[in-house]
Amino acid sequence: MRTAVIAGLLAGLASAVQAVDIVVKSKGGNKTTHMPYGLMHEDINYSGDGGLYAELIRNRAFQGSDMYPVSLAHWSSVNGAVLSIKNLSEPLSSALPSSMNVAVSKNSSSGDIGFLNAGYWGMDVRRQKYKGSFYVKGDYKGSFTASFQSALTNDTFGSVEIKSKAKKDEWVQHSFTLIPKKDAPNGNNTFALTFKSSGVKGGSLDFNLISVFPPTYKGRENGLRIDIAEPLAATQPRFLRFPGGNALEGPDINNPWKWNETIGPLKNRPGRPGVWGYQTSDGLGLVEYLQWAEDMNLEPILGVWAGLALNGEFLTKEELGPWVQDALDEIEFIRGPVSSPMGKLRASLGHPKPWPLRYVEIGNEDWLAGAPASYDAYKEYRFPMFAEAISTKYPDIQIIASPSVYDNMTIPAPYAGDYHPYREPDNFYNEFHKFDSLTKDNKTLVGEFSSTHANGGIKWAGQLHPFPWWIGSVAEGIFMIGAERNGDRILGSTYAPMIRNMNSWSWSICMIEYEADARKTSLATSYYTFKFFSTRPIFQTLPTTPDEGNTTSLFWGAGVGEDGEKIVKFANYNTTSSAPTPVKLSFDDEDAKEAKLTMLTGTGDPYAYNEPLKPNRVVKETSRTLRANRKGLFEFEMPELSVAVVELTGRRGGGGRGHPHGRRV
Ligand SMILES: *[C@@H]1O[C@H](CO)[C@@H](O)[C@H](O)[C@H]1NC(C)=O
Ligand SMILES: *[C@@H]1O[C@H](CO)[C@@H](O)[C@H](O)[C@H]1NC(C)=O
Ligand SMILES: *[C@@H]1O[C@H](CO)[C@@H](O)[C@H](O)[C@H]1NC(C)=O
Ligand SMILES: *[C@@H]1O[C@H](CO)[C@@H](O)[C@H](O)[C@H]1NC(C)=O
Ligand SMILES: *[C@@H]1O[C@H](CO)[C@@H](O)[C@H](O)[C@H]1NC(C)=O
Ligand SMILES: *[C@@H]1O[C@H](CO)[C@@H](O)[C@H](O)[C@H]1NC(C)=O
Ligand SMILES: *[C@@H]1O[C@H](CO)[C@@H](O)[C@H](O)[C@H]1NC(C)=O
Ligand SMILES: *[C@@H]1O[C@H](CO)[C@@H](O)[C@H](O)[C@H]1NC(C)=O
Ligand SMILES: *[C@@H]1O[C@H](CO)[C@@H](O)[C@H](O)[C@H]1NC(C)=O
Ligand SMILES: *[C@@H]1O[C@H](CO)[C@@H](O)[C@H](O)[C@H]1NC(C)=O
Ligand SMILES: *[C@@H]1O[C@H](CO)[C@@H](O)[C@H](O)[C@H]1NC(C)=O
Repeated sequence: MRTAVIAGLLAGLASAVQAVDIVVKSKGGNKTTHMPYGLMHEDINYSGDGGLYAELIRNRAFQGSDMYPVSLAHWSSVNGAVLSIKNLSEPLSSALPSSMNVAVSKNSSSGDIGFLNAGYWGMDVRRQKYKGSFYVKGDYKGSFTASFQSALTNDTFGSVEIKSKAKKDEWVQHSFTLIPKKDAPNGNNTFALTFKSSGVKGGSLDFNLISVFPPTYKGRENGLRIDIAEPLAATQPRFLRFPGGNALEGPDINNPWKWNETIGPLKNRPGRPGVWGYQTSDGLGLVEYLQWAEDMNLEPILGVWAGLALNGEFLTKEELGPWVQDALDEIEFIRGPVSSPMGKLRASLGHPKPWPLRYVEIGNEDWLAGAPASYDAYKEYRFPMFAEAISTKYPDIQIIASPSVYDNMTIPAPYAGDYHPYREPDNFYNEFHKFDSLTKDNKTLVGEFSSTHANGGIKWAGQLHPFPWWIGSVAEGIFMIGAERNGDRILGSTYAPMIRNMNSWSWSICMIEYEADARKTSLATSYYTFKFFSTRPIFQTLPTTPDEGNTTSLFWGAGVGEDGEKIVKFANYNTTSSAPTPVKLSFDDEDAKEAKLTMLTGTGDPYAYNEPLKPNRVVKETSRTLRANRKGLFEFEMPELSVAVVELTGRRGGGGRGHPHGRRV
């Protein structure tokens, strides 16, 4: 009471507010899983195709399904050429039965004819090396011209001539590289492929699998957009959960994500009706996910389909058997020896070396679609059938159930669960201690989390918050500390949805926003708090006093980092009268002399958000050296709505090991 009165009277004079005294002990902690933070990706509203997957050409192979018919969408004709879809008796492949016929018309009998592709709301065109290819069938003498053009003006930014090798009765692939002479001023660009109508015998040519890639992350063929992959890599994630998510479940029982249709040459991939309103190409397939994991040094967490579709349909026990075998085949494809049938298939695709695979999740959110019947089925036979088959054949694999112990499922050890909190900031504040009561037998992955709704009861299915906003991001920080201080039982945490295409999205919340123009890719406030903690992972927890790790506004967790440095993470929520919170921090055994304090603060407005496709204006990072006073205390203040990390950088007497972090950036 007295403290409160004084705090009230002297609000603003921070020194008068009672300091929080925290002592970090050096013994009694627990080893963590060593992968506290990671990434989760699925093709949700153009975050695979048209997103992280770098392909520029939209509808490149005229893929379709009963749900999303084959069409010429995103293609248009140049100089009167007549475009049509044909299902030729000799298609490019059985996976790609439809192709585009380009016919010479009266209007176009002289000059260059061809077609344009509009990309995914445009294309990023700059002075860099693009790699393209296309298949053509038909009798044509001459050359093709591939070019990038403005969709707004008559500008051509660059073009290349490709000598025709086309043949009358055969699909012939042509490849090219194209380096534009100048950067396009914006993303409103198209790709054109044209040819001389006079060189065409037979009136038309057929085209399929027309593909153009900009430079990709780590130069991978068929790879990822650099502008999106690099900021993800900069969070130094430890694991990758894929391929979903709802994308794994598929829209109905006939259309789950089928791993074996996403591998091999692109011409062998039929694509699939996705769950977000369009046909996906499956260019970003199983192997591409594993290469991504390899390139960012991530532990794969593979989701296998568990017989539930997003519309609530689910398989009976009798129907499920082949899918259990399918999951075993998929695992064998990933990590089996070359002598195994699926290992041999992997080797035949140019990957003799097995990939590591230690985590397999059975399904996705199996407590949700079609519940309660589908969920009962999950508990009764769907989960047990997969878990038993996989753990018998691969005892070292950590099996993860898609629900968590918080979803009314008893998950027998050693299996883990998966918890997906999408919350109001105040919920995260209130759930700081949620994981404290988990036993060592209740291992839990936080496979998705984020602040989605504003405080005050705007409920699910109602309006999401337009963009990640500062109080939401700070609350996520509180939640992350709550998870990481229990890092022996929390397998790891990952923010979701990870990225958002500004031209088509179903979730406003994300870490990274983008459109075609890669120069505009932007970072949400939640990216900053996530990266702030993920780049300073705790590998061993340390107890503190007070041991609960919080006051009414301040939350903290301590531990030992990758290089043996001691780390204390803080998040400060609403304070009394918005006054900063003074902190007195000490370490019990260690004559700590110097520490580094790094802090993220907002603008003072809890609702401030970074405008997408604009530079960060909300989050400010500051860093300074703290020196311990004579009593060994490090004193500093945490402003309202801030997150901070204190890292112990030196010891008195110079005897101890220093802590130059040499951190990757
Ligand atoms: C040819 O041009 C005429 C006149 O511009 C137009 O009406 C007609 O639709 C065109 N035909 C084709 C096949 O493009
Ligand atoms: C081509 O085949 C697809 C099915 O693969 C079908 O939906 C479409 O109608 C066919 N198109 C034509 C022009 O025959
Ligand atoms: C250019 O592209 C952007 C991003 O897709 C779009 O918002 C804008 O409307 C386009 N501008 C024009 C003039 O088409
Ligand atoms: C593009 O070129 C055409 C014909 O050369 C001309 O009529 C048109 O005005 C030009 N458009 C722009 C935006 O410059
Ligand atoms: C994203 O996908 C959902 C589901 O298909 C769809 O309803 C929604 O319209 C999409 N969002 C946008 C902005 O296109
Ligand atoms: C994928 O595997 C299933 C069996 O699990 C099989 O029926 C199907 O033919 C395979 N598809 C391809 C493209 O290999
Ligand atoms: C934790 O695991 C134990 C042992 O598997 C189990 O009995 C208990 O129900 C689990 N806790 C919760 C909250 O489900
Ligand atoms: C778990 O049980 C509680 C209480 O019956 C219920 O409110 C909640 O919806 C259930 N959750 C799930 C995921 O089934
Ligand atoms: C913070 O800790 C106190 C005990 O000091 C506890 O009563 C309170 O519920 C905690 N608040 C939160 C949000 O965890
Ligand atoms: C270490 O784990 C034990 C058992 O789960 C738990 O009681 C204790 O609080 C943990 N210590 C820390 C510092 O997290
Ligand atoms: C914190 O302040 C925000 C308004 O800025 C309010 O919506 C929220 O309920 C407060 N939460 C707590 C736990 O004080």
